[in-house]
Formats: sequence, structure tokens, C-alpha cells
Amino acid sequence: MRADFDALAQIGATGNGGVDRPSLSPAHLEARAWLRSCIIDSGLEFRSDGAGNHSAYLPCGSQGAPILLLGSHLDSVPSGGRFDGPLGVLAALEALRVVKEQGLSLPFHLEAIDFTDEEGTLVGELGSGALAGTLALKALDSPRGGRQALEAGLQRAGLTEAGIFSAQRDPTGLAGYLELHIEQGLRLMNVQAQIGIVTSIVGISSYRLAFLGQAGHAGTTPMEDRHDAGLAASVFNLAARELVMREFPGCVANVGQIHFSPGAFNIIPARADLALEFRAPDAPILDRLEGALLARARDAAQQFRLELIYEQLDRVLPAEMAPVFQAAIREAAGQLGLKAIPLASFAGHDAQALAPVCPVGMLFVPSVGGISHSPRELTHWEDCVYGANTLLNAVIRLGGKNIKTE
Ligand code: GLV
Ligand code: MN
Ligand code: MN
Repeated sequence: MRADFDALAQIGATGNGGVDRPSLSPAHLEARAWLRSCIIDSGLEFRSDGAGNHSAYLPCGSQGAPILLLGSHLDSVPSGGRFDGPLGVLAALEALRVVKEQGLSLPFHLEAIDFTDEEGTLVGELGSGALAGTLALKALDSPRGGRQALEAGLQRAGLTEAGIFSAQRDPTGLAGYLELHIEQGLRLMNVQAQIGIVTSIVGISSYRLAFLGQAGHAGTTPMEDRHDAGLAASVFNLAARELVMREFPGCVANVGQIHFSPGAFNIIPARADLALEFRAPDAPILDRLEGALLARARDAAQQFRLELIYEQLDRVLPAEMAPVFQAAIREAAGQLGLKAIPLASFAGHDAQALAPVCPVGMLFVPSVGGISHSPRELTHWEDCVYGANTLLNAVIRLGGKNIKTE
């Protein structure tokens, strides 16, 4: 697993410890080609689907058995780290290899899957949403990364929009989904725990907002006469922060892009386009936060005599992790003598897209300094191994449980 991890980290390497493998970019496709050979070299069956998801498949003895999915993603955020996603894919693959080598008998088929576009540089949870049937058609019309990037990526990968939806599976054939991931926070490090048992994943909503004003001469137009779209963008960004900190404890909001146009030193910005994302632990709070943020945007538009337009791009609901998966992780960690604590995830994960159709579970390993979505992302190798061992042992324990009823 270490050799695989190091080989994979070379693909799209940025030279500073990170990787740049946005979904369906040449580097991401190279990583997937590498994974495919790795699966075949391991003597496992390789599968892929219309959404581009790549899998290793290990059948159990009984033909009508459901599939237990294990996995994560090989795509990264722009200039991301080498652990976010790949660790879960490689630990899943390693679990299949061990089950095969040891000839272990389980009541489900195993599939180690690399989901397409978890990170949302194109759409977000695209492969898992397609597999679950929870991907909305509208998500492809107005994707987070823009239509052009989506079309170019699909073409590069030899995929089509219609084909994406063919990846949908019958949920009765799914025993569940289990994923190992890095924590991307500091909670495990702070209490010196090796394993996080995820209890739930936050809801995430994303919007494009635009303030529309008027371009003008930046020198000759008096300050009080301007319709400056840039000012509303700045005011809104600060107002969003204050709103969340004062009135929405446990939530977060982020303006990740602001683009002013025409965009010159000496032209008053006629338009400001913003990428807004916010997260909340449950759906009613997510709704209230959405209303409050949009009200702040309207206030900012009014303050500078601008028009406001906006579009919701994406809304991923919060997801609860199945108690049976939490128990399997807790027992597996206990058996390995590891300290495990329950915690909620504030990062989005493919398990969210799958939660409406099958039981899901996740386990975390510590992130040094809590850093992620950065080339500085690091998990000590010892912790990666603890995580992979806990994943494998949780799978074996799930073999002895009735997943759908426990
Ligand atoms: C995915 O990593 C996310 O939480 O944005
Ligand atoms: Mn991830
Ligand atoms: Mn991520």
C-alpha cells in the first residue's frame, strides 16, 4: 500500500508535496489509468461505469449477494494534498487484496471504487450521485466549475452526459458504503486518538451571486455617484462572516471566488460574480442560513444601488452514518488497540450522495495540523496503516452483522 501511495502521489505532483488533479484533468485521468493497471495486476476484476467511476471487484461465493462498496476519490482540489481521497481508494483496494489472498469468506461482494469528481471542481459528488440516482439533471446545466469545463472534462474522459445517468444502480444490490478518509481537522490529534468514527456529515449549499452596477471612469466619477459592484461584493463577504459567527454557531460560509468585470485599474466594476458556499449540521439550519445570507446580499446590493441576481448550484443534504457501520468501526478499532472517538464531518464526502439509498459509514485518521486542501496536508504513515487495518477489520465484522436491519 505504501508503494502504491507513493506511486500515485507522483501523478500530478506539484513539487511541494501536493498534487494537482482536478476531476477529469489529464493528471486525474492518468491517475485512473494507473489505478486500472494496479487493479488488474492484483488479479482483481476491473469495472467502470458511465459516470467514469473506476472499481476493483471481488465476488463472494453467493451470486445473489449484495455489494459492499468501499472507496473514495482520486481527484483533488486545485493544488491539493496527496491524502484527501487516494488514501481511501488505496486502503479499499488493499482490503480487497487481503480478503482475496486470505481466502476470507464474506456474505457480500466487495467493490473498491474511485468516484468521479468528489471535490466539485466540475459538479461535486458526481460519480456517487450518479450511482445512487441522487444526481439532479440541473446539476449538469449549471455546474460549479462551469459548463465549458464539464464538457471538456467529459470529452477528455470519453464520457457523455446521458451516459453519466446510466451509472445508477439498483439500491437492493447495495449492502452499503464504507470510506476511510483523513480528518482534515484537529480533533483526533487534540485527544491523541487514531480513529474517528464519523456520526454525520454536514449539509452543503452553493450559489453563484452577481451584483450588477455600472462601469464608469474611475477618475472622473465622484465617489457618491458610483454604482460599484465591487463594493457590494466586499461588504457581503464580511457580512457573511459576521452573520455566521454571531448567529449561526457550528456553521461556516465561504466566498471562494470574486470576479470583477470589466476588471481594470481605471474602470468602476460593473459586475461582481461571487462563488458562495455554506455548510450546516442539519437541514433546517441550512435553510435558515441560506435565507439570512441572501438577505445580507440584498442589503449589500441596496446599499450601493445595484441589482442582485443569484442561482443555487447545489444542495447536498446532511447525512447520518448508519449505527451498524459505526459499531463495526468501533469494534475493529478496539480489537486493534486503537483509541477511537465519535465525531461529525464538516467536509463533504461521497457517503452523503449514497446515504439516501444505502447504509453508509466513514472513519477518519488524524491530519497533522488539521491542514487539508493544501500541499501541506499530511497524515503520518503509521496512522494511514491504522486506518486501513481498521477499515479491513470493520469489513470483516460487517460480514457477521445484518447490515440492513441492525
Ligand atoms: C470536499 O472535500 C469538501 O468538503 O469540499
Ligand atoms: Mn475527500
Ligand atoms: Mn476534499
